[in-house]
Amino acid sequence: MKSFYITTAIDYANGDPHLGHAYEKVLTDVLARFRRLMGDRVHFLTGLDEHGQKVQQSARKRGIEPIELCNEAADAFQGLCRRLNVSNDDFIRTTEERHKQVVRSILQDLFDRGEIYLSEYKGYYSARAEQFLQEKDKVDGAWPEIYGEVVEISESNYFFRLGKYQDWLIEHIKSHPDFIFPRFRAKQVLEFLKEPINDLCISRPKERLEWGISLPFDENYVTYVWFDALVNYISAVGYGTAEFEKRWPVDYHVIGKDILVPPHAVYWPIMLKAIGVEMPKGLLVHGWWLTSGQKMSKSTGEVVDPLNLVDQFGADAFRYFVTREMNVGQDSEFSVELYMSRYNSDLANDLGNLLNRVLTMTPRYCGETFPPMSISEDPETELEAVWQDTETRVVELYEELQFHKGLELAFNFIRSINRYAEQRSPWKLAKSEDARDREIMETALTLMAEALRRAVGLLEPVMPDTTARVYELLGYKSEAAWRDRIKASQALVGSKIGEKTILFPRPQKED
Ligand code: ME8
Ligand code: MG
Repeated sequence: MKSFYITTAIDYANGDPHLGHAYEKVLTDVLARFRRLMGDRVHFLTGLDEHGQKVQQSARKRGIEPIELCNEAADAFQGLCRRLNVSNDDFIRTTEERHKQVVRSILQDLFDRGEIYLSEYKGYYSARAEQFLQEKDKVDGAWPEIYGEVVEISESNYFFRLGKYQDWLIEHIKSHPDFIFPRFRAKQVLEFLKEPINDLCISRPKERLEWGISLPFDENYVTYVWFDALVNYISAVGYGTAEFEKRWPVDYHVIGKDILVPPHAVYWPIMLKAIGVEMPKGLLVHGWWLTSGQKMSKSTGEVVDPLNLVDQFGADAFRYFVTREMNVGQDSEFSVELYMSRYNSDLANDLGNLLNRVLTMTPRYCGETFPPMSISEDPETELEAVWQDTETRVVELYEELQFHKGLELAFNFIRSINRYAEQRSPWKLAKSEDARDREIMETALTLMAEALRRAVGLLEPVMPDTTARVYELLGYKSEAAWRDRIKASQALVGSKIGEKTILFPRPQKED
């Protein structure tokens, strides 16, 4: 069985989960579920980034220990995963011993081999971004708002020799076109690498930052956030043990575009190279959710609480919306109007009405089970042809990480089923005394149900509960592999029809 290892970024413990975090988990989950359905043995990791100045400051403000704040955040982010029905196999916290121990052993190893050295450092520092800045980071002579207050400091620190790997990294990116998805983002990385890169300052003196992992070779310092956080991807899968070989290399690190350059595209590959670990196969870089054109983030204050949307409309509707709306790689605008319009038109109307028709008419006209299909004329063969195209294409699109397009096609097919229903109008045929009309009506009702069963099969990576509920309502049980389930035809004849159920109720009008 092919093994497939996938990760999300680990979220900062300092702040509540928002739409951006929820999206990234859903996107990763959709891919993880898709790979499982395709037969891979998947390992899916997510987690929490707990060290750093901001956590230390927030905890102090509240008069609690940093770890207490992190415990609260871990509850919140793990709760988010559960409520979104995210199927992660592991959740790593950077305060766990299994992680800290790997970070220390890597630091010691790099120090022993002279890849880390001590030096005097003078520079501009942003507490908000927890990073040193350079003159070139200024925009029109001033520090951009995202850095908050910037101060000049001078201190001794430890440095990691990034610079000597620059040419190797450029070559690696150029010779591995699948390393960064979407490909246009590789250009941005190569652009960054045109200038000589400085060695990376990897320590913070404890007077300035205590809440971190101490350097094993100098207890007066803790390690810099990125050198700590990035290591989670290998510490969680047993780096240094036999288990590691079973998981690594990772198939995708799923991340947002703000943490591609330099952390994931420069620091991380070089860190791995320096410790002799194989490169990740891919970085899957998504865009941002925007509100009124602005990145949704804690520092700008414009945040959407995904859990409100999940409470009101369910996890599957949320998962559908973000996957359908976001072209992986681009940015996407969030608004309640857009959310409601997708919910009403696609879920309540196209999908919901079809299910409703099947569950209402079949028992009314045919009894408890789905009748046989004896008719095959143009409307039936046309619908079958649309299905054949849809099935192949949707799976291809999922393989190409074009989930929004895959969903678009799946819902086009659902609309084709509704058109077929209009064409055959079983509710009219039910009034006829003619035996042939009855056969057409029976065929139409069962075929609508079969087509619906196939369509919701395609939705399974995105809306797993909906797929399971519809299967149940159609009386469909199968142990077959995913592709075989969705390809199957005539699977419902004779199966028992469930109670009429509204999966996507229309929201109550507020006045
Ligand atoms: O960056 N739209 O944590 P984080 C889409 N701890 N994605 C968004 C987003 C938005 N509006 N806002 C944030 C960190 N994200 C580090 C990562 S990884 C070793 C350490 C995404 O909580 C963001 O791009 O700020 C990132 O991938 C993830 O949420 C966590 O962001
Ligand atoms: Mg961020």
